[in-house]
Amino acid sequence: MALEERPVGKLDRAVIFLGPPGSGKGTQAKELARQYGVPHLSTGDMLREHVSNGTPLGLKAKPIMERGELVPDSLVLKMVADRIERPDCEHGFVFDGFPRTVAQAKYLGEMLRRQGFKQPFVIHMVIPTSVLMKRLTGRRTCKQGGEIYNIYERPPKVEGICDNDGGELLHRPDDREEVVAPRLNAYEKLTAPLVQYYRRLGSLHDVDANRSVEEVRREIGQLVSAMRGTR
Ligand code: AP5
Repeated sequence: MALEERPVGKLDRAVIFLGPPGSGKGTQAKELARQYGVPHLSTGDMLREHVSNGTPLGLKAKPIMERGELVPDSLVLKMVADRIERPDCEHGFVFDGFPRTVAQAKYLGEMLRRQGFKQPFVIHMVIPTSVLMKRLTGRRTCKQGGEIYNIYERPPKVEGICDNDGGELLHRPDDREEVVAPRLNAYEKLTAPLVQYYRRLGSLHDVDANRSVEEVRREIGQLVSAMRGTR
């Protein structure tokens, strides 16, 4: 990383990654959060943890996620509210996959105002639908550290094993071809309206996500760095 790109200090607000399944939200959100030393809050990861622990929330969410539909706002909002009240969020955080409906965005806006945060900074991952199927069906995620691979574009050195920590690489059940279409439909119907919502508020920044991971990372780094300290 060049010296002028190196981030200094903390984020001072929420950064939101908005984009369709497979657009690279998780890949980029993890990296940005790591650079700034703030939590990476993926509602998908939180829900999957509830599912694997068999909690009451997980039991409700499991069949919905397996169908590629959105989990009801009532379940997701409480989970997010509890998480951002923790002390590690006081200097900002990176949302990946939240908010996903206009109702969630309104609720988040209220929560952030109450906690004294500035307006969120929204990164909109712009990508043609035609590339998403290959990205999703080829994705593998480390069971231990969560590192994201792709068997076509970013394969691990040893098949099925994470390069970083040797963890097992998993294929998400909702990355099966037959579940991808309903997920894309849910995005178009319920989440895409957030693009207009945040654009009107002046918080949205379009990023061409159909480039290499490194090129996308560089542009996001520059946008976030220019945002810090602004209103
Ligand atoms: P969630 O886990 O949030 O999934 P998603 O939004 O569908 O997004 P993905 O994780 O599939 O993709 P991504 O954009 O993060 O891409 P990634 O970086 O991994 O949600 C899952 C489910 O949980 C939902 O369907 C819903 O049921 C429920 N849910 C979650 N949040 C909710 C909410 N707020 N409200 C209600 N329900 C909720 O990359 C994908 C692949 O592409 C990887 O293999 C990666 O290596 C590769 N890749 C990434 N960038 C590039 C690049 N630049 N070039 C080439 N390959 C790339």
